[in-house]
Amino acid sequence: MKYDFTPMEFHLKTERLDLRMWEESDAVWMRQLVGERGVAIPTLDDARNQIINMRKRAVENGISLLTIRRRDEGDFIGYCGLIIGRSTLEEPEIAYELFRSAHGKGYATEAASVVLDAAIATGRHRLWSTVGAWNVASLRVLEKIGFKWHHSTWDERGEIVWNVREI
Ligand SMILES: CC(C)(COP(=O)(O)OP(=O)(O)OC[C@H]1O[C@@H](n2cnc3c(N)ncnc32)[C@H](O)[C@@H]1OP(=O)(O)O)[C@@H](O)C(=O)NCCC(=O)NCCS
Repeated sequence: MKYDFTPMEFHLKTERLDLRMWEESDAVWMRQLVGERGVAIPTLDDARNQIINMRKRAVENGISLLTIRRRDEGDFIGYCGLIIGRSTLEEPEIAYELFRSAHGKGYATEAASVVLDAAIATGRHRLWSTVGAWNVASLRVLEKIGFKWHHSTWDERGEIVWNVREI
């Protein structure tokens, strides 16, 4: 690894959720999630390749997005984890996305909390999350796990809020 961090734990549990490394068989769920965004859905092969690449990068970088399944039902509801995103490997971003049917039950906050603990365990001291200013639910999740507004930037889609969590 390029940086001197402990690799992130890729299997995390909370009271209601189970977070794990992506498997190729999760490609079907990845396609459904993208479908809910209302953009072009990748083919099954493309989704599988994205997962293969994600697994490779996870080993190289020691951080990753993880699938989220509910422990009781065993169903896939989305993902949460760490990405380089617009930031760096040293100060990565926390990211999450859930099926609409799973919104509003505190799942994103629960998953992001355990990912935050896992990030702290790698020895990192600062995390970021960049969120569209319109995305009230996402900004609220960040607020609930101790992120603070830092600054805004603008791209062709509008204002992007940079939120920071100092550890
Ligand atoms: C962002 C997202 C992950 C939140 O998931 P979730 O499981 O519903 O989040 P939680 O239930 O843990 O918390 C959501 C909070 O936002 C609040 N909220 C949601 N919609 C809101 C709205 N329109 N206005 C004000 N508050 C809102 C909820 O009330 C809750 O806060 P509370 O606990 O204080 O009541 C989910 O909406 C999602 O997947 N969105 C699409 C993908 C996305 O935007 N990802 C983030 C990209 S940066």
